[in-house]
Amino acid sequence: MMDQPHATGVSPKISRRALLAATAAGAMVATAGSTARAAATAPRERLSINDGWRFLHGDPAGASGLDYDVRPNVEASQDGKAADARPEDAEAVKDAGQAVLKAWILPTANALIRDPAKRHARPAGDPGGDLPCVQPGFDDGDWRKVTLPHDWAIEGPWLTKGPYGGMGRLPSWGVGWYRRKLDIPAGDRGRSIFLDIEGAMSYATVWLNGRLVGGWPYGYSSWRLDLTPHVVHGGVNQLAIRLDNPPASARWYPGGGLYRNVWLTKTHPVHVAHWGTRLTTPQVSARSAMVELEVTVDNASSREVAVQALTELFALEADGRWGRRAAAVLSPAQDRVAAGAALTLKSSGSLADPHLWGPRPNQTPNRYVAVTSLTVAGRVVDRYETPFGVRQVRWDPATGVHVNGERIEIKGVNNHHDLGALGAAFNRRAAERQLEILQEMGANAVRMSHNPPAPELLDLCDEKGVLVIDEVFDSWRQKKTPLDFHLIFPDWHEPDLRAMLRRDRNHPSIIAWSVGNEVGEQYMGEPGADIGRALVQIVREEDPSRPTTNAMNWAKSDMPLPGVVDVIGLNYQGAGIRSQPGQFPAFRQAFPDKVILSTESASALSSRGEYQFPVPGVISAPVRPGVGGDPKTRQVSAYELFAADFGSSPDRSWAAQDQNPFVAGEFVWTGFDYLGEPTPYYDARSSYSGIVDLAGFPKDRFYLYQARWRPELRMAHILPHWTWPGREGEATPVHVFTAGDEAELFVNGKSQGRKKRAAFEYRFRWDYVTYEPGEVKVVVWKGGEDWASQTVRTASAPARLEATVDRPRIKADGVDLTFVTVRIADAAGLTAPRADNLVAFTVEGGDLVATDNGDPTSFAPFQASSRKAFNGLVLAIVRAGPGARGPITVIATSSGLQTARATIGATPP
Ligand code: GAL
Repeated sequence: MMDQPHATGVSPKISRRALLAATAAGAMVATAGSTARAAATAPRERLSINDGWRFLHGDPAGASGLDYDVRPNVEASQDGKAADARPEDAEAVKDAGQAVLKAWILPTANALIRDPAKRHARPAGDPGGDLPCVQPGFDDGDWRKVTLPHDWAIEGPWLTKGPYGGMGRLPSWGVGWYRRKLDIPAGDRGRSIFLDIEGAMSYATVWLNGRLVGGWPYGYSSWRLDLTPHVVHGGVNQLAIRLDNPPASARWYPGGGLYRNVWLTKTHPVHVAHWGTRLTTPQVSARSAMVELEVTVDNASSREVAVQALTELFALEADGRWGRRAAAVLSPAQDRVAAGAALTLKSSGSLADPHLWGPRPNQTPNRYVAVTSLTVAGRVVDRYETPFGVRQVRWDPATGVHVNGERIEIKGVNNHHDLGALGAAFNRRAAERQLEILQEMGANAVRMSHNPPAPELLDLCDEKGVLVIDEVFDSWRQKKTPLDFHLIFPDWHEPDLRAMLRRDRNHPSIIAWSVGNEVGEQYMGEPGADIGRALVQIVREEDPSRPTTNAMNWAKSDMPLPGVVDVIGLNYQGAGIRSQPGQFPAFRQAFPDKVILSTESASALSSRGEYQFPVPGVISAPVRPGVGGDPKTRQVSAYELFAADFGSSPDRSWAAQDQNPFVAGEFVWTGFDYLGEPTPYYDARSSYSGIVDLAGFPKDRFYLYQARWRPELRMAHILPHWTWPGREGEATPVHVFTAGDEAELFVNGKSQGRKKRAAFEYRFRWDYVTYEPGEVKVVVWKGGEDWASQTVRTASAPARLEATVDRPRIKADGVDLTFVTVRIADAAGLTAPRADNLVAFTVEGGDLVATDNGDPTSFAPFQASSRKAFNGLVLAIVRAGPGARGPITVIATSSGLQTARATIGATPP
């Protein structure tokens, strides 16, 4: 343990023992259920205010002049624009002199702008303040009751007429209003009161009691508003929030609304600032870890105070509970903070025998929490928790990423933020299920494409030992779509980037920061690189402990942009885009000191269970009518050979990686299908690039990745299914995905040949198999030993439903979910692989939240209680009612088929 305080300013006058005693006597962290009395003594409260909202889609009568800024006219349709199309110059916007709110919103960013001269002063006046719908007395009884997180677009209706472009066919753009009363008792007088919004899609403006308090345009940032000056203690406090989501503002479905958690935070006027801690572990060994902590303290009181900070470190159990005794105490720090000022205190210490955080499967994601107590005049005024992990990450240009000494090949996926049938509305269990499915496949990393995620997703990555690249923007000054982030980049890039860095920098899962994706500045030489340098500089100021990257699909090794980041992130260029040769060797030669990583690989496309014939003999091909794609059904063949025009099959991506072993690994585009960007069929609802479909059902590609990423797993996967009435006598290629190196295929016992896998081959294929009903079987060897075998049989007519649940018991908190998969089986229990029977769900003791089947062309509403199966499978998402005592019974019925039931326990919280 380090005894020497390392604080700025004066030496400590208060002993550690006295501080610890003050901490113990101080207070507990209050929770949402605290009584008013506890609230009055608790130093910090964080109250969920997800319930009790009223929502209106559109502006109420009389609301006008509330735009953030003048926007360019959108004329061109975005339908089908290639993802890798070259971004264009921003348009000059004609300001017709209309009133806009920008000047009142910008000051919200001030805490995240470093240069005081660039901070914004609030103009006089109070726009919108006289609108009835921002007043406490306004009757919102006919507005809809909603609970957050809420995505106003996921209920549809599906749009029947374009242009929808990449944003997809749900009405995410437009205006929405949210109103809620806040309970701020008289006892809160003297405290600071903050509104913490984890994400609002988008262009939020917030009024409290009729006063415009501030807002935030970028829908993926988390942000805070200080409500304190506008609060009526013990009286009615009316919050009103207007969101204005522009059309043509994204290349994928953004969702719309208050789609993440919202909190009310109450503190003493002297408190740890918003995201006010930075914890690093600069030296790590098995025997000890050096822990350094900076704590920024805000003094919102009218007097200078002497403040002391004492931090204890506790180990966390796997379930998040704290260890009983502090594992270490950091050096106390103290200083005087002037009225209305902020100050950073530094502490450090050493942690003996640290339980390291490391990625699964070989390491354990052990976590700690640093608990900082702030004391003023012997009284604890704040208690702030900083979860963290102790790990050492080393980036080596020749060998890639090493965590705690183990070389970790990055086996990553990209994911967008939507959760399929739940839309953009964040749900912890839905996100956790995605990570579980990815880990089952062998993935160890996620790139947050192309924006900061819900903070809880990063908590989950910490918990589960998943490595993360956190990414901030999809565009800088150059535009990809007419109303995307480029419009506000000049004013907002600094606050948005700092918001991500400050919020996320203590997560052990994050190993690098990405400042952009395929930005137009790739094409601009030095002026583009200058913007990159400015962003990298901001990262270094906020977190010098991690490298920066930037995902590039165009910039070449002799251009200036790649040089500005620490880690070269290549999208598709490694395998070669279209007819370009692969770029890994050129980048290696130009940047021998930088790690090279595929920030996007593959962009392979398929629809689960859709096999199209004939199957070309190639290993990778762009989707074309009759070659991997059927424009009539809008399905892409599941032979897993087809890709976006600029992409490649997994097999081709791996050959490029394996021929260039210095490459640190890859992030596949994408882990899951997502809403919007349905390349190549722009009038479908969702993407085709997922390894897993929108409902969470693995496509065949899942097993191709599993074979590579979990080479120890004894698994063989055959495709296609073997139920082809009418194909008798026709060539029906059979492909097998396995980690084995030799395989023999049999159709009804007749060998189709024994094959060995050659270097840079990743699948077994028998392309001239003649279909006959019965069974197809593969026997696999590895290193000459028996390894795995699999048999697929011809199914007969659908006869029954079978239901399986992802978890036998859930929490009855109105939030936790169970995912129920219903399979359509024949009398012998074989999946009927083409079955599309209509399945109706009823739920007893709980609620049906949504249904899906993973079909990218399905336009049934996600809220419908009955839905057709897609290639034999259909999903129901179910929750327990708050406080329900269970069990929950899910009953699936379908005409002519035997009913299935699943029972799930529910535990009251
Ligand atoms: C990439 C882009 C992704 C997505 C993908 C589609 O070029 O970075 O956001 O558009 O292509 O395959």
